[in-house]
Amino acid sequence: MIFIKTKKEIDYIRESCKVVAETLQLLKKNVKPGITTGELDLIAEDYILSNNAKAAFKGYSQGENSTDYPASICASVNDEVVHGIPGSRVLKSGEIIALDVGVYKDGFYGDAALSVAVGKISDEKKKLMEVTEKSLYLGIEQAANGNHVHDISYAVQSYVEENGFSVVRDLCGHGVGKHLHEDPAVPNFGRKGTGAKLRKNMTIAIEPMINIGKYNVIQADDGWTILTEDGSPSAHFEHSILITDNKPEILTKI
Ligand code: MF3
Ligand code: CO
Repeated sequence: MIFIKTKKEIDYIRESCKVVAETLQLLKKNVKPGITTGELDLIAEDYILSNNAKAAFKGYSQGENSTDYPASICASVNDEVVHGIPGSRVLKSGEIIALDVGVYKDGFYGDAALSVAVGKISDEKKKLMEVTEKSLYLGIEQAANGNHVHDISYAVQSYVEENGFSVVRDLCGHGVGKHLHEDPAVPNFGRKGTGAKLRKNMTIAIEPMINIGKYNVIQADDGWTILTEDGSPSAHFEHSILITDNKPEILTKI
């Protein structure tokens, strides 16, 4: 079931999303060669807790056969697509890192992600990040009252494929609010005019995960990290947004 949020609920979601955006901004400033992903995790956790909020991903379980997610953020480097677990990995110049932050505050969630260059990166990785971010904004443009969910999906997919990259099929965006993951699923590929109808005061997270090579992904032995099967680099950008009568409101805008 897709929830339509009340004004009060939207205010709470907006608050959580604000902490998400501020945390991502702080993380972005700290990405440089030599820092570990674990250090980034601590920076995020401190900031979130100091805002009377909780890191939404810590302790999150994907169901029966899943271990609880052990960290506050996801930090996915190079061929890691999403759900990379922060730890002792030292960032090196030339790498790209996707940072994903979820916040739970006063009963409501916010969720967003961005990819950042570490030092100097190749033109190909630069293009990957630009195309992924632009595809997110093209998807957001389609998140209008009366449109269909897959209008978003189609906008993301067509732009990405025109640029020679591929859209991960196995993971989707989602509704967000009282739960981190709500209906509807928001795939990054699909056919225009299909899927659920979008309505004013729905809140959804749109999150293209884009690979330079093939779209196939695999899961690492840690039970969480998702990697490209062909080892090609991957980028991820995400915003939580509110559907309105007019343009969507980007709730996690920095
Ligand atoms: N933004 C991701 C998602 O919506 C982050 C989830 S990480 C997890 O799926 F640990 F909570 F799974
Ligand atoms: Co998400």
